[in-house]
Amino acid sequence: MTVARFSDARIIQSWSRNAPSWVVAVRDGRIESRRQVTDAAIVDAVLSCSPGSVLDVGCGEGWLARELAARNIRVTGIDAVPELVDAARRSGGGDFRVLSYEKLAAGTFGVTADVMVCNFSLLGKDSAKGVIAAAPALLNPAGSLIVQTLHPVAACGDLPYRDGWREGSWAGFGPDFTDPAPWYFRTLESWARLFGDCGLRQLEVREPIHAKTRKPASVIFIAVPAHESR
Ligand SMILES: C[S@@+](CC[C@H](N)C(=O)[O-])C[C@H]1O[C@@H](n2cnc3c(N)ncnc32)[C@H](O)[C@@H]1O
Repeated sequence: MTVARFSDARIIQSWSRNAPSWVVAVRDGRIESRRQVTDAAIVDAVLSCSPGSVLDVGCGEGWLARELAARNIRVTGIDAVPELVDAARRSGGGDFRVLSYEKLAAGTFGVTADVMVCNFSLLGKDSAKGVIAAAPALLNPAGSLIVQTLHPVAACGDLPYRDGWREGSWAGFGPDFTDPAPWYFRTLESWARLFGDCGLRQLEVREPIHAKTRKPASVIFIAVPAHESR
């Protein structure tokens, strides 16, 4: 089946093709920004909400679930790529299921959590919107949605600062990676609007700074259902 070059389906196709290389890259600590900044930043963000349970959306090979499980947090991980889910299951730390965002958003999953975390996993357009729109129903009372993603200002490059699909790149990841996934660029304003449109309110925005470059390595949004007063 041919899938459109800029589409949510194309993202899953690319992650399926690169799953074995991704498992090695994450587990060997080959991604410098993760090692230096963003892994600790997302763990801190989740712990700051003191959850008993976490839904790890787009869990990949499951490193975050293992980190959280080591702190006695119950984790359910979902991902569309069976090979990544298999790798996560083999290493433990959570209940891992093969599930697409589209199915998660359909509302029949039956699992709720204190925190829903999306670590560099909201890469598409409609698929990301579906996950965010589903969050209020997937969160327990007083729950939070946490999203870590590329910082739009830092990642914008020479292209105009406006929403739109971008070509992917595996630059810096090594020769084992092929066929990079496209991703949907959103400005900071657009992320804020998306949370608002999906019935959420941004509680906090964090900008983890890379000690060497002194630029943000990512941005982390913490959002809560808009009807809850906190
Ligand atoms: C950059 S990886 C991040 C994995 C993990 N969160 C981590 O921190 O290592 C992005 C993940 O999102 C998953 N993903 C992307 N689009 C998806 C979709 N529509 N449904 C389910 N999973 C999806 C991919 O399979 C991949 O595992």
